[in-house]
Amino acid sequence: MHCIAVSALMIRFGQHLNFDEQTVRALGMAGLLHDIGKLAIPSELLTKDSALSESEMRLMREHPSKGHAMLSRQAGMPEIVLDVCQHHHERMDGKGYPYGLSGDAISKYARIAAICDVYDAVTSARPYKKAWTPQEAESWMLDRKGCFDRQLLLQFLNNVLQS
Ligand SMILES: [Fe+2]
Repeated sequence: MHCIAVSALMIRFGQHLNFDEQTVRALGMAGLLHDIGKLAIPSELLTKDSALSESEMRLMREHPSKGHAMLSRQAGMPEIVLDVCQHHHERMDGKGYPYGLSGDAISKYARIAAICDVYDAVTSARPYKKAWTPQEAESWMLDRKGCFDRQLLLQFLNNVLQS
């Protein structure tokens, strides 16, 4: 359900930004496939209802690269899908993973994915937390300085979610 929700949000975001149809389709596909690398992560880790240990965290943080490797083996996979899969956990301040890329080194597509991914994650119930309200999610995301592309975040909160 998370992947479908992220896909829908990314399509709406792409339409809001007036991307062409091919790009919007690729964003939707990227949303569906961004976490496919989690197939290679032990399911106990994915459903654990307490904090992950350092070694478990390290393993979990391999899902973007594992997913990218899986998708790279598929002929004709759009570049946007590969990019989003590999980079949806990067942060604008360079404190993300797997590469610690910052600012312009992260594509607009991956920055869009990071916003949609986190928004859906925090507004959904998880084994270790209840779902936050849209208002709680908004103020928390605005407070996370350095995490998201500020301009895109404001467009997302003020326009994409309201449309
Ligand atoms: Fe992810």
